[in-house]
Amino acid sequence: NQGSLWGGRFATGPSPELVALSRSTHFDWALAEYDIAGSHAHARALAAAGYLTTDEEERMHAGLNALRDAVRSGDLVAAESDEDVHGALEAALIREVGPELGGKLRAGRSRNDQIATLVRLFLLDHSRVIARDLVRVIDAIVAQAESHPTAIMPGRTHLQHAQPVLLAHHLQAHAWPLIRDLERLRDWTARASVSPYGGGALAGATFGLDAQAVAQDLGLARPAENSMDGTSSRDVVAEFAFVTAMIGVDISRFAEDIIIWNTREFSFVRLDDGFSTGSSIMPQKKNPDIAELARGKSGRLIGNLTGLLATLKALPLAYNRDLQEDKEPVFDSVSTLEVLLPAFAGMIATLRFDTDRMVASAPEGFSLATDVADWLVKRGVPFRDAHEVSGALVQACEQRGIGLEDADDDLLAQVSPHLDAGVRDVLTVDGSVASRDGAGGTAPVRVAEQRASLVARAQDL
Ligand code: ARG
Repeated sequence: NQGSLWGGRFATGPSPELVALSRSTHFDWALAEYDIAGSHAHARALAAAGYLTTDEEERMHAGLNALRDAVRSGDLVAAESDEDVHGALEAALIREVGPELGGKLRAGRSRNDQIATLVRLFLLDHSRVIARDLVRVIDAIVAQAESHPTAIMPGRTHLQHAQPVLLAHHLQAHAWPLIRDLERLRDWTARASVSPYGGGALAGATFGLDAQAVAQDLGLARPAENSMDGTSSRDVVAEFAFVTAMIGVDISRFAEDIIIWNTREFSFVRLDDGFSTGSSIMPQKKNPDIAELARGKSGRLIGNLTGLLATLKALPLAYNRDLQEDKEPVFDSVSTLEVLLPAFAGMIATLRFDTDRMVASAPEGFSLATDVADWLVKRGVPFRDAHEVSGALVQACEQRGIGLEDADDDLLAQVSPHLDAGVRDVLTVDGSVASRDGAGGTAPVRVAEQRASLVARAQDL
């Protein structure tokens, strides 16, 4: 019951108001199995240091296994009176193995070093799920790029027609940030894989417990070097929240493209029925709700990060109860991404592109004007002048309501003595795209190479 962790120096139990405020079992119960894993490791350390006999250690492990089974089956849940997962599981252990043995496990550890360790274990496990889901989004992007290796579309800056690009180039541009997010998760893993266990409340434990063995037992690389830092810093949690927010922001950009491409005016893309929604009133509607939810949930992921940082700001060393507020934001980020990413991957995998429509609009908006300027440079005209000439040709064509490719020889000569019929050779979207064969460029040969290294990088991670 509520007072069981600290009855000794208290004359009365906690007020119901305190109990209601203090309770965290409704969210930290998600850590129950990690708590039990920590208890197994701690029992081994206590036994190795001579504080549990072999028989006691065996009964302790058996009791903890029974608790784990009961947690898994749902037979064991926190009681109303339990403050947090640690207290609830200690009470359950005492019921299981008796107060004599159950009461020994708390020696040399505190809920402060426990919770700091358990949240890392939880996030490390879920980072692997998120990484796997991210790889599936990347796979879906790569598969779409592979099925459209030469399709051309308008490339935009400022949302205005800029230069033609390959659809595959555009799609792959959305995959690279996700590759970097995978790298961020991997880099974070090294920092997260440190165990605060053994730090006690703040100052470290007596009893000669082997913190390295506990860390290894829990699958972590090593114990924290400073018990005050280990029990009270949450930068590792905040960094995880940042990476999840970044994933949300990266996904939201792709989502926005899909929302725009799916409009009647663009009609670049059609969504699969299984990955779009209808309207309760307008029978004709087919809405890109997955993309909109991706866009919306990125705000929530950012909120989780900023909320957590606000909690951490200017906290005095070492543990403060404020730190209990670290868990809900990142738990929410985890569950948000774990439902969002599979839906997003499915939507991408089933997109159908109208490549005829895309290529038809690619040269619109004088998007080949840079090609005219580049053609002039290749004939010895300084780029600054070439830019002027090409701009003048755009203006002349715009006044006549024609495209660059429609300018006849007279008009070309009228705009500049540097221009002649030869320029028409570069006034095709295929020619334009093929000519951009510099590093990272949109030429089909470069985009195919890029795709190969994208796939290789994703496999490495
Ligand atoms: N529930 C707390 C947390 O999530 C851990 C318990 C530490 N409580 C304490 N009074 N020191 O951070």
